[in-house]
Order: sequence, then C-alpha cells, then structure tokens
Amino acid sequence: MQFPVLEKFKANLISIEDFFKIEPYICYSPRPYALMFNVILFGPPGSGKGTQSERLVEKYGLIHLSTGNLLREEIANKTPLGMEAKNFMDKGQLVPDEVVIGMIDSALEHHKDATGFLFDGFPRTAAQAQALDKLLALRKEEINIVLALEVTEEELVKRLLHRGKTSGRSDDSDESVIRKRFSVYSSDTAPVADYYKKAHKFKAIKGEGSVDEIFAALRQAIDMSMAS
Ligand code: AP5
Repeated sequence: MQFPVLEKFKANLISIEDFFKIEPYICYSPRPYALMFNVILFGPPGSGKGTQSERLVEKYGLIHLSTGNLLREEIANKTPLGMEAKNFMDKGQLVPDEVVIGMIDSALEHHKDATGFLFDGFPRTAAQAQALDKLLALRKEEINIVLALEVTEEELVKRLLHRGKTSGRSDDSDESVIRKRFSVYSSDTAPVADYYKKAHKFKAIKGEGSVDEIFAALRQAIDMSMAS
C-alpha cells in the first residue's frame, strides 16, 4: 500500500497538522487495538534502559528496538550511515532525526508480525516522538505506556565510567563526553516526557536499587497498563 501523504511529511513538504487533516482516519485513540502492546523505556544515559529491556522483551515477547544498538551495528559494519553517526556519537551529540526515524521505520517494516515493540533510546526529540506516533498510526498501532527510569546524575556518571573500563564504547570513557550526553538529554530529550504526560501515558519508575527490584516495578506498571 502506498502512503503518498506520509512520503510528503517525511520529505518535510507538509506539517504534522496538515498530515492529520489530510489523513483524518489516522487518529489517536485510546487502546483501539488490543493485540499490540508498545512500550517506550525512557531515561538518561546509564539509567538502565538496555539492562531492563533485555528482561522485558523476554518476559513480554516484544521486539527490542534500540536506536543506540542499531547505530553501533552500522558503525561496526562500517556503513556510510554508521560513519556519519559515529561523528555525532563520539561527541555525545544526537544523530540527526531523519537518520534514526528512517531506521525505526525500516525496523517496523521488517517486523510486521510483531505483537509489540519495546523502544529503547527512542524517541529522543519532540520530532522523533511525533514521527513515531505517525509511523505507528499508519500501522493502526500506538504507544501504550512510557516508563521513565529516574536515577541521580552522580549515580549515572559512576555507572558509565565503570562500564567504560570494559565496554569499548567511546562515549563512556571520557567524563566530558558523558556530561555532554546529560546536557543533550536535559535540553533535547527530557522535554519529550511532557509530550507523553499530556497523552496520559507517562509513568516514572525509581531507577536505583537492584536490577531485580527495578524490573519488578516495571513489570507492575506494564501489567496494570495491559489490564486497563
Ligand atoms: P544509547 O545507546 O541509546 O545510549 P544511552 O541512552 O546514552 O544509554 P546507555 O546505553 O548508556 O545506558 P542505558 O540507559 O541503556 O543503561 P544500561 O542498561 O546500559 O545512545 C548512544 C548514542 O547514540 C547517543 O548519545 C546518540 O549519539 C546516539 N543515539 C541513540 N539513539 C538516538 C536517537 N533516538 N536519536 C539521536 N541519536 C541517538 O546501564 C548502564 C550501566 O549501568 C551498565 O554498566 C549496567 O550494567 C549498569 N546498571 C544497570 N542497571 C543498574 C542498577 N540497577 N544498578 C547498578 N548498575 C546498573
């Protein structure tokens, strides 16, 4: 099926408002499609998104979509996209929206039979959040819940510097790059929380404590959302 209006939106030829005016049947409505369950795991660098995602996808049978992992795969394969992304990632900056939105679009297309997705590290800007809603709406899906891991900056720095000793991640070993990632999170990503608060989909979860305790809190929030 062709979606010419989506193509125009992707090419920045029409605004999100015009998109919804032209495609009025693609509307945002609460839980219309009970079979799918889509979760966003949200939080600053080092808050435990990756750690908890591994457990959650296994527990709920979701497809894990981590833009950080997808980008690191591109870098490992030395693709042109990976080489472009590396320049941003090494400095603790965000990779341009169109690159990550395109990657998510392809991944959704690739997993057409999925019964739900866990988005980890995406969306990270308001534009990414709006694009995700549209990409899901085109597939008659929506985000069900956004779980935000809350961890103090002191603890985050400790975790990332510790991981940097063995992970080989260029953005973990230098404290100034880690601080840059936090500042980008505050300026560009934290406001995304308001987008989902307005949609009544946002739930904060304490991200400090044992991995098991945090997993239990996440599970409780998901189970309640699934039952509602
Ligand atoms: P990304 O890979 O998404 O990294 P991040 O958000 O910075 O998060 P991390 O992977 O560092 O941490 P995490 O929250 O997953 O925590 P983890 O479980 O690993 O992004 C990297 C870069 O890619 C970005 O800076 C950007 O350049 C680019 N990018 C990615 N997505 C993008 C997008 N959408 N748009 C634009 N650019 C994008 O845990 C961290 C450490 O803590 C681990 O060592 C872990 O073992 C430990 N730990 C976990 N839980 C606990 C706990 N409860 N107690 C103690 N230690 C714990």
